[in-house]
Amino acid sequence: MKLGPLNHIGVATPNMDEAIAFYRDIMGATKIHEPFDMPAQGVKVCFVDTPAQDGGASGSWGTQIELIEPLGEDSPIHGFLKTNPKGGQHHMCFEVPDIHKAKVELEALGKRVLGEPRIGAHGTLIFFVHPKDMGGVLTEIMETPKKG
Ligand code: CO
Repeated sequence: MKLGPLNHIGVATPNMDEAIAFYRDIMGATKIHEPFDMPAQGVKVCFVDTPAQDGGASGSWGTQIELIEPLGEDSPIHGFLKTNPKGGQHHMCFEVPDIHKAKVELEALGKRVLGEPRIGAHGTLIFFVHPKDMGGVLTEIMETPKKG
């Protein structure tokens, strides 16, 4: 697989408003996007931008935090919060230039891809890979959004 940028780190929370307040008031985040529901995935998400490595000089932003709150009774996040009632780090998401190629390559290496590529929170195709095949980290692979 061709490793692209670390797009975001997923952080599960039992309370979206408190999580947003934490990143704004304690961590000093200045760019917090509007939360939105993804009913098909059973989650509400909110992206928090961190500054780019150059401190924002280029006008671009760096890796995001993806705050995830359960949505609905069947949300897959309920199980995670049962084990981690106060929330915690849930997954890491790396970009790739070609999602289908990445899937074929990872599966050829025996990695368990969880389901077919589907539209993720950034509007591009994503899939997850089983943490037990990825050094203990639930890994999201996301096709890099096309610019412009
Ligand atoms: Co994610």
